Formats: sequence, structure tokens, C-alpha cells
Amino acid sequence: MPLYRSVTIAPGTQLLIWKIAETLEELAEGVHLNNGCVAKMDKMKSEQHRKALLSVRRLMQEVGYSDFDLYYGPDGKPHLKDGTNISITHSYAFSAVIIGIRNTGIDIELQREKVITIADKFIEPEFAYLDPLHLEEYMRKLIVIWCVKEAVYKMISRKQLSFKQHIAVHPFEMKDITGKAGVTFGEIDYVYSFYFEEIEGFTLAYCLDNNGNG
Ligand SMILES: CC(C)(COP(=O)(O)OP(=O)(O)OC[C@H]1O[C@@H](n2cnc3c(N)ncnc32)[C@H](O)[C@@H]1OP(=O)(O)O)[C@@H](O)C(=O)NCCC(=O)NCCS
Repeated sequence: MPLYRSVTIAPGTQLLIWKIAETLEELAEGVHLNNGCVAKMDKMKSEQHRKALLSVRRLMQEVGYSDFDLYYGPDGKPHLKDGTNISITHSYAFSAVIIGIRNTGIDIELQREKVITIADKFIEPEFAYLDPLHLEEYMRKLIVIWCVKEAVYKMISRKQLSFKQHIAVHPFEMKDITGKAGVTFGEIDYVYSFYFEEIEGFTLAYCLDNNGNG
């Protein structure tokens, strides 16, 4: 299945998701890569990573962009040459991008119980409202928080930004599909809205800048 979803999430801002079911050759059909990207793909040991790269370019093509429109800052953040914002994520069978007029961050993660054992690496204030006794919901919320913090990180892209110290995901319910995350870092002191959903054993979250930051 190629394009899984293409939806307008805000004026001038598109969320696109690809579910990778193609062979490498099928994914590469009609995709033109710049030399740097070809070299990057050649260095990838895993076919899954090569497929992820190609599927992201297929998503970009859906809205009229190609690999030649894409470049990366020294921090690794992707940009489009015409000034439009882009954020990229991929995990196993899924890849997703948000392309639009607002600065944005997106993340998708496979739902794994392992998140429980690493929770103390990225959670701190949230422990006040998380309930480990309700194990399934605990795990699902941990993954949402992880995705939200990765998405916020990608939007702001500051090297010293700590998931534990600088980003606080406010209490939320799984049925809410949206929530708030506070970021206090340097000149940034702001609460961002985030959105999340669960798709076929994966969790996807994204945030949009509504303060002109970043
Ligand atoms: C760079 C980072 C954001 C990538 O996220 P990830 O979940 O590992 O991987 P994803 O597939 O979701 O995202 C990868 C994409 O992020 C984008 N990216 C990389 N660095 C970025 C940055 N500084 N800002 C914005 N986007 C970035 C790239 O487009 C990359 O895809 P591409 O190389 O194919 O174009 C992540 O590894 C990271 O450094 N996180 C912050 C560090 C941290 O504190 N982690 C604590 C975890 S407990």
C-alpha cells in the first residue's frame, strides 16, 4: 500500500503518511535523488532504511516537492529551499512528513513494552500523573510522551534541549488525541499543542509552532 494518508491539519499544512509494502525497486520508481542523497543511501546497510528514505521522497512528491528541494541544516533538521517547513519521521513500515507554512515536528514510534524500562531517561514531571498500575495505559501514554518530546525536539532543534528538564507534557487522556506540552529553554517559555494517534501498533505525534518560535 503506498500513500496511507494525506490530510490538511492546518491551513497550508499537510500531514502525509506512507505504509511501506513495496520492494525497493518499486519505491524507487520515478524518484530522482541528488548526488548527496544517493551517497547517503549507498552507505545505508539496512534495506529498511533505504526504503524509508525513498518513501519520504514519494511523500514529498505527493505535494509537488522532490529531493532536489530538500537540504539539511548542520543540526540535521530538514528544510525546503522555498522556505516551506518540513519534518520527517520513519519507523519500520511507516514513514510520515508534515509540510507547510508553520514550523513543525513529527514522530512515529513502534509501540514496545521496552519503553517502560527506559521511561526514566525521558520522563520526569509526567511521573506525577502517570499510573504504572494500569500497565497497558501506562505504556501507551509513555509512548505518546516520547513521541511528543521527539516532535517538540525536531520543531525547536536545540542541541541542549533535555527531554526530562525542558519539556513537560501536561496530563492527558488517551481518548483526547490532543494535549499540551510546555517548553522552558533559553528564551523559549511556551506551551505548544500536540496531536497524537495510534496506527496499527505505532504511535504518531506531531506539534505545530503557533508562536513564531524556532
Ligand atoms: C534526531 C532525532 C530527533 C531523530 O528522531 P528518531 O525518532 O530517532 O528518528 P525519526 O525517524 O523519527 O526521525 C528521523 C528524522 O529526523 C530528522 N532530524 C534529524 N535531526 C533533526 C533535528 N535536529 N531537528 C529536526 N529534525 C531532525 C531527519 O529528517 C531524520 O530523517 P532523515 O535523515 O531520513 O531525513 C533523535 O534521534 C534525537 O536526537 N532526539 C533528541 C535526543 C534525545 O534527547 N533523545 C532522548 C531519548 S530518551
